[in-house]
Amino acid sequence: MSLMADPPGADRLSARLRRDTRAAHDAAQASGFLDALAAGRLSWVAYADLAAQHWFLYETLELAGHTMADDPVARAFVFPELVRLPSIEADLRFLHGPRWPDRIAALPATTTYCTRVRYAANSHPVGFIAHHYTRYLGDLSGGQYLGDAVARVYGLNGDGNRFFVFPSIDIAAFKSYYRRLLDTLPWSPEEQDEFVTEVIEAYRLNVAVLDELARRWI
Ligand code: HEM
Repeated sequence: MSLMADPPGADRLSARLRRDTRAAHDAAQASGFLDALAAGRLSWVAYADLAAQHWFLYETLELAGHTMADDPVARAFVFPELVRLPSIEADLRFLHGPRWPDRIAALPATTTYCTRVRYAANSHPVGFIAHHYTRYLGDLSGGQYLGDAVARVYGLNGDGNRFFVFPSIDIAAFKSYYRRLLDTLPWSPEEQDEFVTEVIEAYRLNVAVLDELARRWI
């Protein structure tokens, strides 16, 4: 063992995941669209467009959650308190008006992302948990900073920014519980590799959506 050996626990899946996806996360964090939004440089319409893209994505992801609710491995990740679709729909009603379903459209990159989620997450737990992790842990992490910024910039307090609010979750406790769940998954090394690869793909798909939003609104 070298003097520079990893600290105990560094081989847990949650630790490996953070390590191996850090670069992909940092690329997503560096997205010009989210920075501009948080800094108050974008119109309300640009924010309403991001909320619309969330609708397409969470509709697909949460449908996969229904499908996976009986899967012996994936069902531990199906938490009713994470479900975002009703909050997104309330936001869309506020941001786009009562006829919001006629007023929103998926960007090409959002359609690509949804297609990938449908393919990867509906039939096997590795893909489902990869996409679940990337979105919900993101929403509970950087998403909380973004939610605060959006509330401040657009003067929202409830209506319009419900997506970012998880009223029945203690965020710090939930994130450590979630990481423990990851660490107890009964996966082979090959399945763990597949999982990390799919998370990196999920980051890439997020960046593609954010880049399209940037091209449209910045
Ligand atoms: C404004 C842009 C962003 C900022 C400021 C940001 C910031 C952060 C921070 C500070 C953490 C660490 C939280 C902790 O250790 O408890 C984190 C974690 C995370 N972020 Fe982001 N992030 C951003 C964008 C994104 C995007 C676009 C995604 C993908 C959809 C994402 C997905 C994640 C995930 C999955 C984690 C959990 C990592 C883990 O603990 O395993 N983030 N983010």
